[in-house]
Amino acid sequence: MGFPNSRCILNTFLISFLYSTTWCQHILNDDTLTRIEEKLTIDKDFYNQWMDLIALQSSQLEEQEEDYPLDYVMKDLTQCGPRKSAVPSLNDVHHLQADSIKFYGELGQLSSYCPSNYTLLRKGIMGPCNLRSSEMTLPSLPSMLQLRGAELQKIESNQLDESLADQARDIGESIRKVNGFENEWKMIVILATIQDGKASETGQTAVEVLSAIEELGKLIPEKTFIVVLRSSGSGIWRDASHQSLACKNQLAQWKVHNKFNYNSVWDQVEMIIEKNYRKPQFHVEVLPLLKDPALTNLPEGVDLSVLGYDCAHFSERGLSLLHLAVWNSLFTRNSARESQYRPTASQVLCPDPTCPFIRTPSNSDLCIWTGTMPDDEFYWVDYLIFIGIWVLLMILLVIIFYCICVTRRVASEKTPTKAFGASFSSIKFIDEDVV
Ligand SMILES: *[C@@H]1O[C@H](CO)[C@@H](O)[C@H](O)[C@H]1NC(C)=O
Repeated sequence: MGFPNSRCILNTFLISFLYSTTWCQHILNDDTLTRIEEKLTIDKDFYNQWMDLIALQSSQLEEQEEDYPLDYVMKDLTQCGPRKSAVPSLNDVHHLQADSIKFYGELGQLSSYCPSNYTLLRKGIMGPCNLRSSEMTLPSLPSMLQLRGAELQKIESNQLDESLADQARDIGESIRKVNGFENEWKMIVILATIQDGKASETGQTAVEVLSAIEELGKLIPEKTFIVVLRSSGSGIWRDASHQSLACKNQLAQWKVHNKFNYNSVWDQVEMIIEKNYRKPQFHVEVLPLLKDPALTNLPEGVDLSVLGYDCAHFSERGLSLLHLAVWNSLFTRNSARESQYRPTASQVLCPDPTCPFIRTPSNSDLCIWTGTMPDDEFYWVDYLIFIGIWVLLMILLVIIFYCICVTRRVASEKTPTKAFGASFSSIKFIDEDVV
């Protein structure tokens, strides 16, 4: 696995044997990696635990890749019916389809993944856990959108260890540099976790997410669809800590952060979003996927192959599964969305042909769509039926008018007294007949 744009330096260190390790210059900014490397050199117990962890992850990954390869995702998605549906007359957030999205950006620590090349890891050669979805070979949300017709321009934020608001500003400013950015739909996905917040009341993740949304609202207030993962549940990391001592050890530093990730604050943030960021041109959709997540059980324990070697970030497979779940959530009615996410290879959902839009609260309740199929034949059939009904209606109207005219003329020719008496006697006659 290669790391572009990085000059590598060689560092030699000693435990009980001699290990040589290459690491790349931009890793030097990465606190977590330096901390793990340091710990590996000075803490023999941790070294053994960590070697056990990466061996387990490697064997589980191999097994999962063989039993549940993810290549079905793209295959199934191509069979989801026509990519381009008729353009709806309304161009608001409730009529947004995959193929109208032009800009795509991601922020937050959960948007990146760790390399998981066992051969390299065993030698102590760890790439940093800041690889982005654009580098994935497995299916990702942007590659799924592209398969469904989106011509995406991917915008990457500078550094994932900056605050969410800074990352949001970075993405917003990059988009603003593109000509005509106001007229194109943008999708920004906020995949934040406790590492994006501070261990305090006012700096916790939910609050940071809100300030990132505010920042985006200032910079790109037109045609923006923001997806937020509500990461209020810590089940995945709790399970990892129970399964592996190395995970427990590495995740210990986030314990305080985890305490300051209140459910109630996420609830409040969701309420604020509902009140302020549900506009036709600037919409935030909060997905409950990580409200109550957990790792999946395998015969030999939980599946750690979805996590990276630092146990905090995902592996490439883990991130791909998360992106698939985000895709499925976006095309699921608001009230039916998954909140107990399990990282497993699940079925890919197609956009509903009767309502092919990314689901929002309003199009989950009532989907107003009068679009026609893009297939020309179907279009003409629809058109002909439409014309046929009109012609029939016209003929009917002409007949009705004709009848009215004729009866009026007949009525005016008769004398009123005669008509009155005739009807009277006929009623009487019917009554007698019945009795
Ligand atoms: C792991 O890295 C080594 C050395 O760069 C490379 O030869 C090998 O193909 C990689 N393995 C995988 C599964 O990517």
